[in-house]
Amino acid sequence: MNNQLREIIFSGIVSVRDRLLQLDSPLRLESGEPSFDTPVHIKEAMAKALVDNHTHYAASTGIKPLKEAILKKIIEKNNIKNIDGLDKIVVTNGGMHALYATFRTILNQGDEVIIPQPNWTATGSMIELSGGTLVKVKLKPELAYRWDMAELESKITDKTTAILINTPHNPTGGVMTKDDLKALLQIAEKYDLYVVSDEAYEDIIYDQKHYSLGEVASDFPKKVQDKVITAFTFSKSFAMTGWRLGYTVCSSDEFANNMKKMILYTINGVSTPTQYGGIAALEGPRDCVVEMVKTYKTRRDLLFEGVNQTQFLKCETPPGGAFYLYAKITDDWDKSSWDLVNYLIDNYSMGCVPGDIFYDDEPSIRFSYACETSMIEKAIENLKQPA
Ligand SMILES: Cc1ncc(COP(=O)(O)O)c(C=O)c1O
Repeated sequence: MNNQLREIIFSGIVSVRDRLLQLDSPLRLESGEPSFDTPVHIKEAMAKALVDNHTHYAASTGIKPLKEAILKKIIEKNNIKNIDGLDKIVVTNGGMHALYATFRTILNQGDEVIIPQPNWTATGSMIELSGGTLVKVKLKPELAYRWDMAELESKITDKTTAILINTPHNPTGGVMTKDDLKALLQIAEKYDLYVVSDEAYEDIIYDQKHYSLGEVASDFPKKVQDKVITAFTFSKSFAMTGWRLGYTVCSSDEFANNMKKMILYTINGVSTPTQYGGIAALEGPRDCVVEMVKTYKTRRDLLFEGVNQTQFLKCETPPGGAFYLYAKITDDWDKSSWDLVNYLIDNYSMGCVPGDIFYDDEPSIRFSYACETSMIEKAIENLKQPA
């Protein structure tokens, strides 16, 4: 059996979910699963692709019309202007596979990768599976969960190969500013590092603008741009979690050539009809996205206010993006974060996940507000009860 897999932990989110699924009408605040269904025009496009017999093998890094739609999107929406051909776009089996294939492509055994703490566990495990070693840098609530760049720089060693960023951030909802991205790229330039930018929540953002790292990189030399790899997904923006569709963009020929091999020998391409759905998502109306984000914002405000009225939890600033609220557990709760999570499952059939699974060493809890608003309302009532 593979030794690396033996060492890697199974997802704490999945273990909470499995327990909740045994219960009647659980409150599903544990996972990042949008309560919305995929918009109809996207489903129709996939149905049409099936009828039109787009059911055969296709180019393994993605079909041409999807890559063309992606290129247009990254130029017009993300302001990423340095992608000079469709070969620099690689279609993947969701954002998760985009990230896994990226780390497998750039890392060698023993390479250090700087990640945020807390960090969505999956990327940490993917880095470890790719031979990398995690080096954690704390995102602090007093900085609205943005990086302290001096602290980040202090963690760089001669083994550091890459930095992982995720903005908007899971689990804290922190959003990096344009200046943050610029400062990060200055560090990347100084030490010749890759920066992997996980932009899964590019559209789920409130009151501020999402900046893509690839946009900010255009002010840097080509050498720096070529080490910026951005992973996108359709899952969150278009409520397409089950479709498994994502992509990477990077201006480097070398990365494109090696990623191509990773894709060929892992999946040999995403299901062809699914990719037609992706074209409709990118080219179709965007009002569905705007409506979903409006609802997430209402839910965020509700949860933020509710959590701060409880005895055991405190959240200092409303999350700026994604659909998670990260709360500190106050000293009034004298047991562990997992104990609080288990207490909420046992007493209220309510799901959430402890900060421990995001490598956090301070007592904290993540709530997802991607679920129905009524679940959030009930969850708040429960949280207000004395334990
Ligand atoms: C931070 C982050 N990145 C990437 C993903 C990947 O999502 P998917 O594999 O569904 O595209 C997720 C999913 O929850 C996420 O939270």
